[in-house]
Amino acid sequence: MNLELIGKTALISGSTKGIGFAIANQLAAEGARVIVNGRSDNAVNSALQQVRKAVPEAKVEGFAGDLATSTATEELLRLFPAVDILVNNIGIYEPRPFDKTSDDDWRHVFEVNVLSGVRLSRAYISGMKQRNWGRIIFISSESAISTPKEMVHYGMTKTAQLAVSRGLAEYCGGTGVTVNSVLPGPTHSAGLEDFVAQLGGGQSFEAIEKEFFKSVRPSSLLKRFETPDEVARLVTFVGKRYDMKSKRHKNNNGPAKSTPGVVLGNQIEKRAHEIWLATGCPHGDDLSHWLQAEREALKGFGGERPSTTA
Ligand SMILES: NC(=O)c1ccc[n+]([C@@H]2O[C@H](COP(=O)([O-])OP(=O)(O)OC[C@H]3O[C@@H](n4cnc5c(N)ncnc54)[C@H](OP(=O)(O)O)[C@@H]3O)[C@@H](O)[C@H]2O)c1
Repeated sequence: MNLELIGKTALISGSTKGIGFAIANQLAAEGARVIVNGRSDNAVNSALQQVRKAVPEAKVEGFAGDLATSTATEELLRLFPAVDILVNNIGIYEPRPFDKTSDDDWRHVFEVNVLSGVRLSRAYISGMKQRNWGRIIFISSESAISTPKEMVHYGMTKTAQLAVSRGLAEYCGGTGVTVNSVLPGPTHSAGLEDFVAQLGGGQSFEAIEKEFFKSVRPSSLLKRFETPDEVARLVTFVGKRYDMKSKRHKNNNGPAKSTPGVVLGNQIEKRAHEIWLATGCPHGDDLSHWLQAEREALKGFGGERPSTTA
């Protein structure tokens, strides 16, 4: 256990399996109190058992309810009125030809993939701002910036999540609340197994995987499905307190950088952190102040350097 998140409460929508489950496990291992969610008691109870087995000291609770509906969201709020980390993970996807995608299909995928996260963010964001600490993380997809022709409606929802997260990051500017989207590539989850089965017509998973990266996602650099744990590691990094402050200060509630929008990978942020440490943590021991000063300094050299996040 790392215990970086001890005392923080994390809700992960849609976390009985797949990417959401991996995130729940890793946040529990970091010491957060975790709320696991799925639509049925059975699925939630089974996920709770698995987390407790993997992380015996886990502080984990469950909420069974369809968080794509406002009724379940209201019920959730009665039981859990405040969270510090909100991971908007619920998402549905299936291949469907554009000319066979009805108005109802478009509305449904928007309701589940976008509105669920909007409602949950609206419910929890004021409390986070009042406490001056919070993390909202949308599990978007690479489909947000490269719309798949086999599911245009899904791509639309993932791009919409970027708009929402960017707007909320602006809304939280200057506070200790950060809002980001993480954009995984194709990831070997339960949902993805159903998805490839629909594309694959009875071939083995390995054969479909090979063909998928040859013909459906030829631009992939990995040429394999990601694992849910790989995605969860990035999400946990975004959800954490800032390591650089927590190692130097007992109280980590100082002004955190309100990271706008989209995590394109943690390498740039890691590199910035390394340079900041190597230069003796200038600017009042606050990485965000140092980054701001660097940007100001660069303005004199012909304009502002692009931010590390977009
Ligand atoms: N897998 C990929 O290749 C991939 C790539 C990029 C982005 N993503 C995104 O990652 C997220 C998770 O995908 P995944 O592949 O891990 O999904 P998954 O394996 O299908 O799991 C979905 C999870 O969400 C829950 N769920 C679904 N609808 C729900 C609802 N209305 N209310 C509450 N829980 C609900 C399911 O639980 P119950 O069945 O128990 O209700 C399950 O725990 C999605 O937003 C997806 O768009 C996935």
